[in-house]
Amino acid sequence: MVKLTEQMKEDLKKVKVLPLATCSRSGVPNVIPIGICELVEKDDDDYLLLMNNYFLKTMANINENPKVAIFVWSPEVTACFQMKGDVIEIADSGKEYEDFIGRVKAVKPQLPGKHMVVVRITDVFNCKSGETAGQKILWKFSENSQKILYEIFWKIWTFSDFLKVVPENQPEYSR
Ligand SMILES: Cc1cc2nc3c(=O)[nH]c(=O)nc-3n(C[C@H](O)[C@H](O)[C@H](O)COP(=O)(O)O)c2cc1C
Repeated sequence: MVKLTEQMKEDLKKVKVLPLATCSRSGVPNVIPIGICELVEKDDDDYLLLMNNYFLKTMANINENPKVAIFVWSPEVTACFQMKGDVIEIADSGKEYEDFIGRVKAVKPQLPGKHMVVVRITDVFNCKSGETAGQKILWKFSENSQKILYEIFWKIWTFSDFLKVVPENQPEYSR
């Protein structure tokens, strides 16, 4: 699961134009400005809703290779982070599509709103210059990784409990 921090969510709202990078199957990169990018929280993951109004090479790339990257920065925000994600749905009908298009068209009725492109965020990297530049700051934990972590914590917890010694002649002491 990948969940943006509250600060990241605020920054995402503040940045008005985001660069959306895609790549063809043969490795030709493409980057475009996008103005419509909504964060939605579903289950344990965060998703981005993008609106395809005029995507051309972008759409061709997504159809061939459903991986995207976006960085979030503008002079209004202090941090800079990059999100990588998988396009998991391209919709032109349905309740979620209608709701999304409705919200956007309420502000910009002239947009065609061809598709809602749903991106599941898989990794987040620091983009700010400095010691930790480029490093991963949030990433997707598979269910298996979560299970292993849970088991490690449980073992540490039960072992530390086992190590607790009840001192003699102190009956009021209880574990
Ligand atoms: C500031 C700005 C914001 C834009 N926002 C969007 C957007 O949210 N959705 C969209 O389909 N196109 C948007 N466009 C148009 C695309 O960036 C781009 O022109 C189009 O996808 C064609 O490029 P491509 O062939 O590389 O995909 C925007 C353009 C600008 C200049």
